[in-house]
Amino acid sequence: MKNDKYVWHSSSTDYPKIDVHSIRKHEVLKEYLRIYVEIVGGYPYSSMLRLNLVDGFAGGGKYITSSGEIHDGSPLLMIDTIETAATVLSLQKKFKLHSRYYFVEKEPSSAAFLRDQIQKKYNSRLDSSIFVIQDTFQNRINEIISDIKKKGRAHRTIFFLDQYGYSEVSIKVLNKIFRELPKAEVILTFNVDSLIDYMSNTLACRSILDKLNLDFDLASLDEQKKQKRWRENIQFALYKDFKSKTKAEYMTNFFIKSSESTRSYWLLHLSMSPKAKDEMQKLHWQFKNHFVSETKTGLKVFPSYNPKYDIDYTRQSTMTFSSEDEVDNKIKLLSEIPQNLSYTPIKAKEFFLKHINDTPATKDMIYNSISDLSRKKEIKLTTKNDNPKKNKDRINDDDLIFIPRQQIFQF
Ligand SMILES: C[S@@+](CC[C@H](N)C(=O)[O-])C[C@H]1O[C@@H](n2cnc3c(N)ncnc32)[C@H](O)[C@@H]1O
Repeated sequence: MKNDKYVWHSSSTDYPKIDVHSIRKHEVLKEYLRIYVEIVGGYPYSSMLRLNLVDGFAGGGKYITSSGEIHDGSPLLMIDTIETAATVLSLQKKFKLHSRYYFVEKEPSSAAFLRDQIQKKYNSRLDSSIFVIQDTFQNRINEIISDIKKKGRAHRTIFFLDQYGYSEVSIKVLNKIFRELPKAEVILTFNVDSLIDYMSNTLACRSILDKLNLDFDLASLDEQKKQKRWRENIQFALYKDFKSKTKAEYMTNFFIKSSESTRSYWLLHLSMSPKAKDEMQKLHWQFKNHFVSETKTGLKVFPSYNPKYDIDYTRQSTMTFSSEDEVDNKIKLLSEIPQNLSYTPIKAKEFFLKHINDTPATKDMIYNSISDLSRKKEIKLTTKNDNPKKNKDRINDDDLIFIPRQQIFQF
């Protein structure tokens, strides 16, 4: 999909305008990258981190905000954030970062503009560990994966796939990334409302959905559009389908509503690591109302979707990760954790992993609720050896939790 709003011309200072939701998106990306280096580089046994960053839809790298300030695009933002985080870490411990950056941009003038920007700041690394590739992401993904696989063993890679629309990154490509690079993480934008606008019961639309690997039943589209909140219902169905097809084990979604276009898009984070998912989930709470997430509080967020049932009944209320949502989430956790336990002990971490994909709660939130519930004697908490737990404030991953055989009734 071509969007002339985002074309850069060399030697022009007439940068594209950036809107507020894209600035927020950059803030999430920056914070996530900083935390990634801090956590993965901070492991006590590691003094070296080999990390690859792939920006598949890089753009030209400079914008202007509505108040006239210059704002860096994702490529410079990624380099600056990663390199600064590594410098901070190296002041605290013996640490060396080996980073490689791949910036793919299809428009020749935008790619040339980006190259200029990088040359000004990181000339010595250009073409040796920072690559600006003028082509489509689809054309170069295989080559990039093989290049990454030539160095080291872990092949840690963060992909930022900020496509303008929805049709450039298929689930097949995502699955290939996770198959070839199991330690990869992908941050992907998906303009779901544009897809819904385009959807019709035609062969052209079927072929786009096939290309994306989505199964939506287009024959039912007209019927679905007669329902109340049909747009949200279709989004939900697409989301469920997307989630079930991806080979990434963990996924979070910032559900972003652009105030400028009143259109929604998804900012998805996909990974094979529960820790990565948990860190991204924390950011949802940290960034609170800036985004709207299509979830509800508590443990069971997405009951299986069945359009045959009353849609309003199965729908999720929209939450914004506000302070009120935090309180509501806590109340629900306190009632739902015991409901999801049995007399058979389960490790705290195992319980968390069982629910991680269905809840907006972070691990800390779940562990805090476990502490509260065990203090109130609503659940039983023991050490891994079945001894009573003295410090109920600190839950260890291998602590055991279960429902006491004799319930305490409080009057
Ligand atoms: C939304 S802009 C990217 C913004 C950038 N990620 C940022 O945050 O600063 C999308 C960019 O992707 C480029 N593009 C579109 N389709 C592409 C494709 N198939 N492969 C690579 N680049 C593409 C466009 O020319 C445009 O510059």
